[in-house]
Amino acid sequence: MGRSIGERPVSFGGEYFHRLSNRHYRVADGVMLRYQLDGQKQRINEIEKRVDFAIGSGNHAVTYVHRTEQGRLLELPLSWYRTLNGWGMSPGYDSPVHQDMRREISDACLFCHAAYPVSREARARPKSIDCARCHGGAQAHLKRPEKGTILNPSRLPAARQLEVCLQCHLETVSQGIADSFRQPGREVFTFRPGESLESYKVYFDRADAAEPRFEVNHAGYRMLQSACYRKSSGKMTCTTCHDPHTARARNACADCHALVKHTRQVDTNCAECHMAKRATNDAPHVTMTDHWIRVKPVEPKADHTAYPGPVISFYTKADVDTLAMANIRTPNAEAVAIYEKRLAKDGKDIGARAALANTLLRLGRRDAAVAEAERVLRLEREHVGALLTLGVARAMAGDHAQALAAFERARRANPDHALIWLNLGVTHAAMGKRDEAERAFREAIRLQPDFAEARQRLAELGR
Ligand code: HEC
Ligand code: HEC
Ligand code: HEC
Ligand code: HEC
Ligand code: HEC
Ligand code: HEC
Repeated sequence: MGRSIGERPVSFGGEYFHRLSNRHYRVADGVMLRYQLDGQKQRINEIEKRVDFAIGSGNHAVTYVHRTEQGRLLELPLSWYRTLNGWGMSPGYDSPVHQDMRREISDACLFCHAAYPVSREARARPKSIDCARCHGGAQAHLKRPEKGTILNPSRLPAARQLEVCLQCHLETVSQGIADSFRQPGREVFTFRPGESLESYKVYFDRADAAEPRFEVNHAGYRMLQSACYRKSSGKMTCTTCHDPHTARARNACADCHALVKHTRQVDTNCAECHMAKRATNDAPHVTMTDHWIRVKPVEPKADHTAYPGPVISFYTKADVDTLAMANIRTPNAEAVAIYEKRLAKDGKDIGARAALANTLLRLGRRDAAVAEAERVLRLEREHVGALLTLGVARAMAGDHAQALAAFERARRANPDHALIWLNLGVTHAAMGKRDEAERAFREAIRLQPDFAEARQRLAELGR
């Protein structure tokens, strides 16, 4: 965990062709380059990004990160995998359509992979997980370096000890549904070891069978479902087996299972049979230890289809309104009411307000959408989602100048966002500015070669 962020990444290079998305990549001199080849084998749609740092120690994988001029962090599409001893597509990228060089690394990623940031600048240059993430602040301890002036997790009740680890090691599903929501009023980096996880966050899960799903960050999720945890009144924590500082696991089964009769002679490596290592569903080329301790492991099966079913609480208990929010699937009047209820409790929930603005827009309630988007922008000046909602609402009202202003503002905040360029193009075209429109559509295509609508709009321009 002390190596969770690499500040001096790629010294090695390489080439990689991703057949599914027809993209070529090259890594050299600290730069990742992407291009395609046209019919004459000429390079087109080239994009180049400097590699600024890396996430992942390389125990399993290393993912590379680019820091934009605006201080945004972008996940790069190639990762290095230990099992391949080479390059592969980053988790979630091994498909014909992927986010390429446009996927933002959010504060939520950094919450699990980095030290607490002390400033905005520190968010753009994160540091590896440090003592404070498990021991809390050390100021009092540095003033008076003695026992009792710093948190020792071993003195906490078992559930709080467990949650020191679960703050980062609990994830139920990485795709398809919202895995968790923070409680009203809680900012990302405000969880402190020793407090209850539920006071910070509530978790959700799919309601269908959990057994076959197995993901990279599933140690906590799977352990919590084990009979060993459920039937030992919560006595089992991560440190029952792991040393928190070296991460090494000891064979702790005998603590609770003194005499186990097996039908045939078994050796002492209990985990080998009861905690099998297996491939994960959500990341390619990665093998993890299944922490769902059981007599006979159930083989996981990859399931990438969208999950249409209900979402339920997991480990923590969400109130009715929060659970309703996790279950929103379509932009309808009911969704509006749910977001409004949430915002009455926490007016600063930017995510809920931006979603409300977008829902109102999709319901054709333009004025209300504009009002909500503007409220979001008062909380976060460059919120790209709100700027897009605002621009589209203005354009629908025929106010192209105002729409253009909103899209330009979004572009300055995030020039790597293909959808912004598409909207710029559409607006220029509506204003009769065909050259500007063409330039914008071409930039959208360069950023996202599979962007069908941008190609179609360009064709409609006759260019
Ligand atoms: C701030 C978030 C965070 C907290 C808190 C945290 N972990 Fe981790 N842990 C991580 C991340 C991220 C990794 C993967 C690091 C990597 O390999 O890049 C990791 C890796 C590990 C590993 C695998 C290490 C290896 O060498 O293979 C173990 C075991 C582990 N953590 C156990 C724990 C335990 C036990 C606790 C609680 C005492 C804990 N973690 C608390 C984020 C966290
Ligand atoms: C809820 C916490 C959490 C979030 C959010 C999260 N991760 Fe992780 N991630 C982990 C933990 C814990 C591990 C280690 C899992 C293990 O070793 O079993 C991990 C593993 C990884 C690894 C493999 C590291 C290695 O060698 O073991 C990479 C790369 C990675 N994450 C990147 C990301 C990126 C990029 C994001 C944001 C898009 C992200 N993660 C979001 C907790 C998280
Ligand atoms: C991943 C979480 C985690 C991180 C990071 C971490 N610790 Fe700990 N630390 C623990 C836990 C859990 C315990 C209690 C161990 C136990 O159960 O006996 C502990 C105990 C200790 C103790 C008491 C040791 C003892 O034998 O009683 C010291 C000293 C300590 N940590 C120092 C540090 C320092 C210094 C750092 C940073 C370099 C650090 N820890 C980082 C989780 C962590
Ligand atoms: C904190 C105590 C504790 C530890 C440590 C522990 N277990 Fe358990 N385990 C239990 C309890 C309690 C049960 C439930 C027994 C029952 O149902 O009567 C259980 C059940 C099981 C079962 C049956 C599972 C099922 O689904 O029916 C297996 C297999 C098992 N443990 C293996 C292990 C192995 C292997 C280890 C070490 C890797 C281990 N346990 C560590 C407490 C523990
Ligand atoms: C019953 C014992 C046991 C408990 C409890 C346990 N682990 Fe593990 N864990 C293991 C074993 C065994 C391995 C494999 C170690 C190895 O291969 O060297 C492992 C490996 C890991 C790894 C390395 C990546 C992987 O999946 O192979 C991570 C991360 C991890 N555990 C996190 C946790 C967290 C977080 C908790 C608490 C939620 C936890 N473990 C509780 C036994 C345990
Ligand atoms: C070679 C694989 C293997 C190893 C190693 C192994 N087990 Fe088992 N274990 C099994 C199988 C298979 C069963 C199902 C019962 C049987 O056929 O013996 C089982 C059953 C169990 C049960 C459930 C008993 C019940 O009544 O439901 C527990 C608990 C258990 N093992 C614990 C352990 C512990 C602790 C160790 C390490 C000392 C261990 N096992 C090592 C394969 C193994």
